[in-house]
Amino acid sequence: MAPNLHDANSVFEFVVKEGNGIKGLVDSGLSKVPGLYVQPPNERIDKENAIKLELPPIDLSKLDGPGHHEVAEQIVRAAETVGFFQVVNHGVPLHLLQSLKDTARKFFGLPLERKAVYLAPSSIVMVKKLLRVLLENIGVKSDDSMIDVLIGKKMVAMIFYPICPNPDVTIGIGRHSDIGMLTVLLQDEVGGLYVKIEEDMDYEKKAKWIEIPLVPDALVINVADMLQATTNTIHSQNLKHFTVILMALNLDDAKSIYEFVVTEGNGIKGLVDSGLSTVPAVYVQPPNERIHKENAIKLELPPIDMSKLGGPDHDAVAEQIVRAAETVGFFQVVNHGVPLQLLESLKETAHNFFGLPLERKAVYLAPVSPSPLVKYGTSYLPEKEKALGWKDYILMQYTGDDEALRYWPDEIKGVLLEYVRCSIIMVKKLLRVLLENLGAKPDDSMIGVLTGRKTLAMIYYPTCPNPDVTIGIGRHSDIGMLTVLLQDEIGGLYVKIEEDMNYEKKAEWIEIPPIPNTLVINVADMLQVLSNGKYRSAEHAVRNTNISSRVSVPIFTMPLETATIAPLSQVIEKDGIARYKEFMFVDYMNNVYKNALNGKKSLNFAKIG
Ligand code: OGA
Ligand code: NI
Repeated sequence: MAPNLHDANSVFEFVVKEGNGIKGLVDSGLSKVPGLYVQPPNERIDKENAIKLELPPIDLSKLDGPGHHEVAEQIVRAAETVGFFQVVNHGVPLHLLQSLKDTARKFFGLPLERKAVYLAPSSIVMVKKLLRVLLENIGVKSDDSMIDVLIGKKMVAMIFYPICPNPDVTIGIGRHSDIGMLTVLLQDEVGGLYVKIEEDMDYEKKAKWIEIPLVPDALVINVADMLQATTNTIHSQNLKHFTVILMALNLDDAKSIYEFVVTEGNGIKGLVDSGLSTVPAVYVQPPNERIHKENAIKLELPPIDMSKLGGPDHDAVAEQIVRAAETVGFFQVVNHGVPLQLLESLKETAHNFFGLPLERKAVYLAPVSPSPLVKYGTSYLPEKEKALGWKDYILMQYTGDDEALRYWPDEIKGVLLEYVRCSIIMVKKLLRVLLENLGAKPDDSMIGVLTGRKTLAMIYYPTCPNPDVTIGIGRHSDIGMLTVLLQDEIGGLYVKIEEDMNYEKKAEWIEIPPIPNTLVINVADMLQVLSNGKYRSAEHAVRNTNISSRVSVPIFTMPLETATIAPLSQVIEKDGIARYKEFMFVDYMNNVYKNALNGKKSLNFAKIG
């Protein structure tokens, strides 16, 4: 049935869950793009101001002749600058290109099909040649076996962009870069491929995008992340990382890994249990995203004693909470009211759950889960985290005791229910302190609305053979009000240091060390908005270890979907300016899920100015 276009849930249900896709939506007779697909203004591509790529297509047939050096030079120049270029005389038969386009159109014409990944053996000649030229230029002698390793498995995705009634406000694929070595792309006659201009590129200031124009019969080549990582590393003479990436690629078979890990639901745990010795390429982070733990600072704030709230030391403790929320955005609490025995059972329960046989866990895989409140799975969208996260998880919505008892998995529901009950009392106390400090007089109903939505997770980070190049959870901020996190004794939680934080320059991360019997609390995006930016919803990430697996049990408290969020009037009065606009929480959530997991940038959605 056609969805109600004014209801984000109904659109999501129809497009994603039922699998009708955007094509189904357009075919159902759409005249206006639903809110869910509207990009925030700053992410839109202003095509009037885009520059057309002026590099002429590169003639690959010359690579084997006397013009070799000249053509090689063109390829290298293009790879070094725009990162995108077009090739003609590429050796891929033109009739094949045409039939690929036809096939793609036909494929998306099939009922209820969404996406497929096919191998395209005839474009692989070509990719090998290009790769060899690029690698030779950076001083690497490449023999056939190395080239084979580097391109490992080649994936061609067919992506269909249906006709869109409001093209100025939507986006086909959000800004991302490809993972893999070289991406070969066949554009059809419609066009619409743009490359983001980086700040260090010397172009006129106002243009932000380069349009890759249509060249008949040409293929578009994109230098993907993995090659960028490779060239960076070689330039910095850091051969160790280069070796790791090569090894990783050697083992990689993106499609079968995806099937085993994601589709079948074995998770990273299944991959590790199968006797893996290096991580597959899809889990390798670009170097600039990795956490260098040698340079991290340990958080020095002592845990805050919550039992003192309401007693003679109330003000001093409230002061500690406020100070932590304003600076790091993270703090640890003791005497928090959650029984210590329960904390131990939670960790044990998490290990036990992920240790269950696949059949039991796979029941809760997103496409088949019998429960609307439970979702088991693993990281599956590389563009969200630059690489897949090395973790498996089970997510649960808490909508009341009865539903939890009915829908949550039997093995875990008892302890989790007790955990959420105790935690919510603590969260409300903390929130009250933080709001009162802003001059608000929060009553029970206000606190109730602001913490009305509760999502719990158990996250399992399996041992990782190459923890220096992977990430458990990529850099992000939490979207709700306050997050409560139980972490075990392994450690690995890091908070990103922002430029305005006054720490020694070379450190980029603050480590939140495990302290027995404490819980970690952090400010999330909505509290940053309510406080008009006074409290910090800090970006954080989890680093893997090769020592042992790690578990964590977060509770994300969020406002009700329909809650209106805006900076508190008392703060605006004091500050003389509102830094965020007013919006409904559900719109914020939809915006975040639609865009990449790009950390604090989610908050740009609500920023004024
Ligand atoms: C999260 C998160 C941290 C952890 O799930 O949002 O940041 O230690 N988790 O698992
Ligand atoms: Ni988080």
